[in-house]
Amino acid sequence: MIAEEEMKGGDGFRTTGKKISVALLALVLMTLLLWDWETNPFVYTHVSTQYQSNTPPALAVSTITQAFMDITYEVCIHYDPNNSTESMEPAEMKTDGNKYQSLEKEEGKKPMQNGDDFEAEIIDGSFVNGTASADTKVCNYAKGRWVADSRPPLYAAKCKYMERKWACRLSNRTDFSYEGYRWQSVDCQKPEFEASHFLERMKDQIVAFVGDSLSREQFESMMCMLTGGQESSDIEDVQFLYTGEIHHPGWGYRFRSTNTTILYSKSTRLCDLEPINATDPNTLNAMHLDRQPAFIRENIDHLNVLVMNTDQHWRKTLVSWDNEVMYVNGAPVQDRNLKNISNAMIFKVNNIVKWLDSKLASNPNLQVFFRTKSPTHFFKGDWDTGGRCDNTIPMTRGSEVVEDESSDKVVAAAVKGTRVKLLDITALSDLRDEAHNSYYGKKSPDCLHWCLPGVPDTWNELLNAQL
Ligand SMILES: *[C@@H]1O[C@H](CO)[C@@H](O)[C@H](O)[C@H]1NC(C)=O
Ligand SMILES: *[C@@H]1O[C@H](CO)[C@@H](O)[C@H](O)[C@H]1NC(C)=O
Ligand SMILES: *[C@@H]1O[C@H](CO)[C@@H](O)[C@H](O)[C@H]1NC(C)=O
Ligand SMILES: *[C@@H]1O[C@H](CO)[C@@H](O)[C@H](O)[C@H]1NC(C)=O
Ligand SMILES: *[C@@H]1O[C@H](CO)[C@@H](O)[C@H](O)[C@H]1NC(C)=O
Ligand SMILES: *[C@@H]1O[C@H](CO)[C@@H](O)[C@H](O)[C@H]1NC(C)=O
Ligand SMILES: *[C@@H]1O[C@H](CO)[C@@H](O)[C@H](O)[C@H]1NC(C)=O
Repeated sequence: MIAEEEMKGGDGFRTTGKKISVALLALVLMTLLLWDWETNPFVYTHVSTQYQSNTPPALAVSTITQAFMDITYEVCIHYDPNNSTESMEPAEMKTDGNKYQSLEKEEGKKPMQNGDDFEAEIIDGSFVNGTASADTKVCNYAKGRWVADSRPPLYAAKCKYMERKWACRLSNRTDFSYEGYRWQSVDCQKPEFEASHFLERMKDQIVAFVGDSLSREQFESMMCMLTGGQESSDIEDVQFLYTGEIHHPGWGYRFRSTNTTILYSKSTRLCDLEPINATDPNTLNAMHLDRQPAFIRENIDHLNVLVMNTDQHWRKTLVSWDNEVMYVNGAPVQDRNLKNISNAMIFKVNNIVKWLDSKLASNPNLQVFFRTKSPTHFFKGDWDTGGRCDNTIPMTRGSEVVEDESSDKVVAAAVKGTRVKLLDITALSDLRDEAHNSYYGKKSPDCLHWCLPGVPDTWNELLNAQL
């Protein structure tokens, strides 16, 4: 495979010695998506308990007041892009100076129916002039374990902002033990998600999720986490402000009280799409590997938080089913290496990260996260060859992530040394094979998407922690 070979792509292709191992690439190629989007008649079996908003105050606030104790501080490291090989994220350190622990076929485009910064006081000398030295561990929320937690999910399954097909509680599933776990980071304490706190911090801001259906699940999860699933007159539908472009359907909601906008824009491969012959209704579309999706291009100056992903849709068959043709430099891809779809994805990921990094250089009000690959769990076959995910017992694959490095090497390598942050959910989600939609309410097992409430809620908790 591409493995030992250095990529030789077109312009802008990163060839800086980043070798992608076979295993990594295999991970990228591993799966596919292609689901029947029909709504099967679901059986109502449960109505979940309402979320009780009685979570403790966010970490930063509570810890500041107890600084004397062996409590973690949030430390904001100022990132010097010219002199760092790692993107810096908030780290935490202990006061005692110890090492701180610190495919789908998209359905119709209808809307859903349904603190204080501490100056790092360096005792062990691992922070040097505001830049972490090589052996310094910045806060890595992706490392940790799933722990049993009897608290109910943050929202009800009949959440207004969620597509019913994700709601396993509204399907014929009868086992919900997958809901009883929360992610616990080992290196640093993850703040509790508190909707009102999140909205307050995101006052007057726009948070955008851009990507495939897994991105949409994360967006829907976020909306449900912020509302507890309830409809409210505080929320205004603003999708009309942001959508309408061909191939870029999406949804958007504004919370009037804080003027916070949360939106989703579909872009399965994060490429700009353009009809090749605009007057031909049956035209193929150019899928520009080296141009950014229209939504991102047009809105980037107004966004405050961008969370994106791409992975599963990089399959030749999916590109052609979408009537798209890969373009680079304004012309169909000729380069032999770039014609290879896995190389094309690596090219795209690096291209958009580089482009966003340059935007970030001049926009202090923007934060960009690249969410890593969402793992699939098709056993005894793949998505199209009878693969299934029948297990309903949590943690049979283990409950801990001990690796420091992301298992999504493509995305991790691309963001390294840039201002784009890694939202690393791959390994922790990989432990949750029992939490997919599976065959509940489905003709064929969906071992790609997740039950909601469920695993994508944890992605948002990590996002919240890293903001
Ligand atoms: C892409 O390239 C790798 C090696 O560079 C090869 O193993 C793989 O089969 C190629 N994929 C396709 C679809 O040609
Ligand atoms: C980083 O390097 C660029 C180009 O070399 C320069 O324009 C910029 O001022 C530098 N920034 C810092 C913080 O040193
Ligand atoms: C980067 O930081 C190191 C250590 O602080 C310093 O010696 C070096 O001059 C810096 N390089 C640049 C380009 O700023
Ligand atoms: C940190 O900065 C100080 C003052 O600029 C300098 O004297 C010292 O050498 C720097 N430390 C390192 C490790 O570069
Ligand atoms: C609401 O937030 C948007 C940015 O998201 C900003 O442009 C607008 O001025 C804000 N409106 C008010 C009334 O503050
Ligand atoms: C574009 O499509 C129209 C309508 O099908 C056709 O008449 C025209 O020749 C096409 N143009 C090119 C350059 O192919
Ligand atoms: C749930 O319903 C689907 C069809 O909607 C069916 O294929 C599946 O076997 C059912 N599962 C159980 C556990 O009843």
